[in-house]
Amino acid sequence: MNILEVKSISHKFEYPLFTDVNFSLGFGESMAIIGVSGSGKSTLLHIISALLTPDSGEVKLLGKNLNSLNTNELTELRRDKLGLIFQTHYLFKGFSAKENLEVSAILSNRKIDQNILNELDIQNVIEQRVTELSGGQQQRVSIARVLTKKPRIIFADEPTGNLDSATASSVMNIFSEYVKKENSAMVLVTHDENLAFNCDHVYRLEDFKLLKVK
Ligand SMILES: Nc1ncnc2c1ncn2[C@@H]1O[C@H](COP(=O)(O)OP(=O)(O)OP(=O)(O)O)[C@@H](O)[C@H]1O
Ligand SMILES: [Mg+2]
Repeated sequence: MNILEVKSISHKFEYPLFTDVNFSLGFGESMAIIGVSGSGKSTLLHIISALLTPDSGEVKLLGKNLNSLNTNELTELRRDKLGLIFQTHYLFKGFSAKENLEVSAILSNRKIDQNILNELDIQNVIEQRVTELSGGQQQRVSIARVLTKKPRIIFADEPTGNLDSATASSVMNIFSEYVKKENSAMVLVTHDENLAFNCDHVYRLEDFKLLKVK
């Protein structure tokens, strides 16, 4: 069984974005989606992470066909199994970094993992309010928040967009190690081809198609 299977997905808004998108991802694997701005990368990520229903096609996550799940089942799947990191993060602004992580830990019945904080180098800013942190620190807190819930699969949309290249590659190493250690998987959307080609598989959205380039 694959952790993710995508069959013949098509979607349009005002105009068609992509048609007949097919791919699969195995346990312990990572893949990247690249493509120019506006090609539909975030939209595709929303579809495969159960946030948006495509016009047609089928997404299977952890053996479950998303079309066959009701709203409650979809909510549970997202809450318990999926780790979503967006282009803009949604930390609770009035709270400290630590309180943000505590919310995630409580909701998923996990403990805050000190190792994750150390690896992301946020252990010293954890008591500060989110609004007092730099953009890159906020981004790393949002990554820590997602890893705290120990997701089975990570969906990340430009997770390192606010980070310098050294910090970005260390964050990507943390993701890769997490995927290997937990036998989970990651789908990464990025403009950075270096980061993309460090993944096991690379796809490009172009001319309404998803092409495999690695
Ligand atoms: N909810 C929506 N309603 C209508 N159009 C939308 C919606 N979401 C996205 N679009 C349109 O779909 C197209 C693709 O958007 P998307 O965000 O998927 O692109 P992207 O490849 O992620 O771009 P970027 O690299 O800039 O993040 C854009 O033209 C966008 O305006
Ligand atoms: Mg996008």
